[in-house]
Amino acid sequence: METLQELAGRISTISVSSTMKVAAEAERLRRGGADVVDFSAGEPDFPTPENIKRAAIDAIDQNFTKYTNAGGTEDLKQAICDRHKTDYGTAYNTKECIVTVGGKHAIFNLVQALIDPGDEVIIPVPYWVTYKDVVNYAGGKCVFVETDEQDGFQLTSAMVERALTPRTKLVMINSPSNPSGAVFARDQLERIVRVTHERGIWLMTDECYHRFLYDLEPFSMASLPAAKETVVVAGSLSKTYAMTGWRIGFVLGPAPVVGGIMKLQSHSTSNPTSISQKAAIEAVRGPQESVTTMLAEYRRRRDYVVARLRQIPGVKANEPQGAFYAYPNVSVAFRGAIGNSLQFAEQLLSEELVAVVPGEAFGTQEHVRISYATSMAELERGLNRLHQFIAKRA
Ligand SMILES: Cc1ncc(COP(=O)(O)O)c(C=O)c1O
Repeated sequence: METLQELAGRISTISVSSTMKVAAEAERLRRGGADVVDFSAGEPDFPTPENIKRAAIDAIDQNFTKYTNAGGTEDLKQAICDRHKTDYGTAYNTKECIVTVGGKHAIFNLVQALIDPGDEVIIPVPYWVTYKDVVNYAGGKCVFVETDEQDGFQLTSAMVERALTPRTKLVMINSPSNPSGAVFARDQLERIVRVTHERGIWLMTDECYHRFLYDLEPFSMASLPAAKETVVVAGSLSKTYAMTGWRIGFVLGPAPVVGGIMKLQSHSTSNPTSISQKAAIEAVRGPQESVTTMLAEYRRRRDYVVARLRQIPGVKANEPQGAFYAYPNVSVAFRGAIGNSLQFAEQLLSEELVAVVPGEAFGTQEHVRISYATSMAELERGLNRLHQFIAKRA
């Protein structure tokens, strides 16, 4: 063979998701017999509710196992629009809705549909790891906006406004935030909608954790009058209904954006799995008690995790207002061989067999992400080990 051709340049602009890397290393150790406590997975530990599973089994029994429309069935799109209307008072129709293969796919497709090489995309820090890579893949330029840990990583409109340039094409908002659990103040979000609308800039609201709010009232930026033309919702059923493996997400937004995504989807994935789509209709139309039950359990765990973290000398921990992640500052333990969050996470895993995700995956250096979507017994075991690990160094 002559010299082998190289991979496409755009593939080198991205890297394997670091959250998945940590989970893979934890899994490797576990397979080797190690007693690992895994706080790295961003995945509900609850099973998918029975009524949803039943709907999927019925779909198979009824041979609903063929292609559907590439953008999802009309029934599911209508059900998603109805759910969003009930929860947030929006008024989307099925031409403004497309079903995707999970929330990640929704974000990937919408960024590919909106971003040209050189376009600037504003991303608040800490950010969900995928945003950066998806923008890079499209040839866009990430413009990171720092938030302040002292203020609970709150994003203000002023921060976004300072980062705007004539090249800004899109602002990506994730509230409740993965990794910080921050829920941005409603007045600031309203202002961000107005400011971006005035300038004709797209605004993505990633609503993956929208149903997991501990105290605040549910609110979607898409419900504001100015939102209809410029706001694009990226939604997911994965966490809300403990359906991570079923791969159902969606986009709600202006019909031209949905049309652009539809073109991409029609040549790539085609439809999300037909069986999952039937299950998804039951999820969004059926009883919602399972969501409330999960939220109550997450709250109990959040309170426990935050209290335990605050007992560790030198550790600073904000109280998450939503989602199921704590994002403590562990820099008190940065000494000797540990100089940053990556080294902290590696050392913690090899020494104490506790898997956490280093903050550098989310754009900060002094934090680690702890997912409390795991049992109280595991939380207790893992936090004991974390306490011991840090106390040795502080
Ligand atoms: C902030 C955020 N958005 C979107 C997603 C997408 O989830 P999925 O692709 O499983 O629906 C995730 C998953 O971890 C997330 O944390």
